Amino acid sequence: MTTAADTLLITNIGSLVTNDPTVGEGPLGLVRDAAVVIEGERIAWAGPATAAPAADTAYDADGRAVIPGFVDSHSHLVFAGDRTEEFNARMSGRPYSAGGIRTTVAATRAATDAELEANLTRYLREALRQGTTTFETKSGYGLTVEDEARALRIASAHTDEVTYLGAHIVPPDYADDPAAYVALVTGDMLDACAPHARWIDVFCEKGAFDGDQARTILTAGKAKGLHPRIHANQLSYGPGVQLAVELDAASADHCTHLTDEDVDALANSSTVATLLPGAEFSTRAEWPNARRLLDAGATVALSTDCNPGSSFTSSVPFCIALAVRDMGMTPDEALWSATAGGAAALRRTDIGRITRGAYADLALLDAPSHVHLAYRPGVPLVSAVWRRGLREV
Ligand code: NIG
Ligand code: FE
Repeated sequence: MTTAADTLLITNIGSLVTNDPTVGEGPLGLVRDAAVVIEGERIAWAGPATAAPAADTAYDADGRAVIPGFVDSHSHLVFAGDRTEEFNARMSGRPYSAGGIRTTVAATRAATDAELEANLTRYLREALRQGTTTFETKSGYGLTVEDEARALRIASAHTDEVTYLGAHIVPPDYADDPAAYVALVTGDMLDACAPHARWIDVFCEKGAFDGDQARTILTAGKAKGLHPRIHANQLSYGPGVQLAVELDAASADHCTHLTDEDVDALANSSTVATLLPGAEFSTRAEWPNARRLLDAGATVALSTDCNPGSSFTSSVPFCIALAVRDMGMTPDEALWSATAGGAAALRRTDIGRITRGAYADLALLDAPSHVHLAYRPGVPLVSAVWRRGLREV
């Protein structure tokens, strides 16, 4: 029987991305002909195979690449139903708008806890098979006190990175009185949700919540011990990014429509710019400009935004391929953003890197290098995944 203290040596790794520049080359801390030792749920050692310590058991990576498990720092996985018809109509020319969220709200309210749980588990499994070992997920399709709290309760059984998004849209029942909905989100709903969440988020956008409403909501969340992150500047220019920086949000997410001032503000802050190219792909929208953010010195994360409306993909490798092809990222930058960048967007240092003391979350690729994630788009290259030291795939 394997106990938590047993050690596993993964050896004969052709190319190892550690994200630890003190261990290997460049920002990715790349080590060729490498090995990793896992002890229990943590990394005990990483470096050149010739220097590896002995371990209880060994796994031969056969010259293939090993990377940190992906950190998907933005998803919306507690929902029911899908929006196939909406996607189909969009691909015939209808534009995306925040209004489609109502369809999922109705389906989610009507679902049982067991249905929501089964749906969530299915997408998590799908993501894990594609190398995701940490994910953040949000409420936002309940929009009543009970439905938001249950979404967070269900999510928190699967991840520590749970986000209260009662302010996704103003639900139809409050269409005539948005101020009363903001009062609910910052009052009874916040009281019911705060115990189940780490983060608070607002969809700051025309048709959702304006800058003043977003500031009120995020400030109330902060007072309850939740830390802010914001859906900002997705569909249009707006105040979201500046507000994120003002409130020291961990992340401003989407960042598709940015002024020079927005880029500067991000570059001079500890707020990560999280880019979600699955959304631009699935809404045929303009790509976010990762190059501009990176050249200015901003920290960039790359995540899926997996949700049934604007981005129904759980695949980080797909997002990496899009970011490299269409957003000006190098394959190295895209991989960093999908691992260490996601960790930064969650203000974590114990994930997203393969370095002594970090969680043993790693993916073996059926490829000699991580560059193949962009070079071979659409190919299922993840062939094994360890999460917290356990082989899951
Ligand atoms: O991140 N922007 C707001 N929320 C989601 C879309 C949700 C939906 O369309 O259901 C997003 O793109
Ligand atoms: Fe989102």
